[in-house]
Amino acid sequence: MVKAVVLGAAGGIGQPLSLLLKNSPLVSELSLYDVVNTPGVAADLSHIATPAKVTGYLPADDGLKKALTDADIVVIPAGIPRKPGMTRDDLFKINAGIVKGLIQGIAENCPRAFILIISNPVNSTVPIAAEVLRKNKCFDPTRLFGVTSLDVVRAQTFVSEIVGESDPRKFTVPVVGGHSGETIVPLLSQTQPPVTIPSDKIRGLIKRIQFGGDEVVEAKGGAGSATLSMAFAGFRFAESVIKITKGEKGIVEPTFIYLAGVEGGEDVRKVTGLDFFAVPVELGPNGAAKARNPLEKATAEEKELINVCKTGLSQNIAKGVEFVAASA
Ligand code: NAI
Repeated sequence: MVKAVVLGAAGGIGQPLSLLLKNSPLVSELSLYDVVNTPGVAADLSHIATPAKVTGYLPADDGLKKALTDADIVVIPAGIPRKPGMTRDDLFKINAGIVKGLIQGIAENCPRAFILIISNPVNSTVPIAAEVLRKNKCFDPTRLFGVTSLDVVRAQTFVSEIVGESDPRKFTVPVVGGHSGETIVPLLSQTQPPVTIPSDKIRGLIKRIQFGGDEVVEAKGGAGSATLSMAFAGFRFAESVIKITKGEKGIVEPTFIYLAGVEGGEDVRKVTGLDFFAVPVELGPNGAAKARNPLEKATAEEKELINVCKTGLSQNIAKGVEFVAASA
């Protein structure tokens, strides 16, 4: 029995993500929470002929508590998305407070649940979550994940386009660092199976993976950011986490984690000097079992990208930690 919860379930990401979870045979209960429209979304999804029982909650009548009680996995796409010209960091003011409040709810109602954070800026919202959980004495770094899967999904797709492969799923591309612009570092040299990318195309490809979100924000012209591709990527990650609770082994997912609390994380921390970083993580029955360290094998050019990433990411992490320290 797996109870999955989506916080921000009525939004652009939340709705298709909830649809994918409802369609999953691995989910037995699906609980939807948002500040608006969840009764409607839940009623709609509840007519789909799959086993998951769907319920929708609003803040009134202890809705957050009811949504979270007995949760095994909580996915958080709550918050405002970007408009053209905005960076993910521009979202901080509003989304930091939203994430802080929702994590407090998790600490009070389901402190052992796996927490998957989609709300941007992920580079700061995950440190916020860690600090709130720490304050509540229930921070388990093996259960807190920043969802960076969309960067990996984009890397797979764009690499396939360049090498002329019709099925992007054939490729594994480690994408490390953070989840915004230059903090996103694709390690193309470690793509499996190996690919040869023409040297005049490498810079453009890296840039496209780093700023792929901007393509969508611009194309939507003010109507939001990536929602459908994010729902796909977020579901892929959520499904992997659900699979480990069912005993499946050998699953590796790149994700933004608190390094010190995860086996192997210390090696990454020694190289980066940062507490949080996205690397491929081996998942086990309790969550993040082992962080892999692909940084040593990076090429000289990729190490340069990691250096640029470190500067921006360390500021983003500090901003999240300070936000919680400054609030009561
Ligand atoms: P949206 O505006 O369509 O949906 C957000 C939902 O959150 C809305 O339904 C809103 O009512 C709800 N919400 C606001 N405050 C809430 C609260 N306190 N509790 C519960 N729900 C609340 O936005 P969209 O497009 O779904 O994006 C959501 C977030 O995901 C944004 O921060 C966006 O930047 C981020 N995102 C992250 C990506 C990633 O790769 N990690 C990729 C794309 C977007």
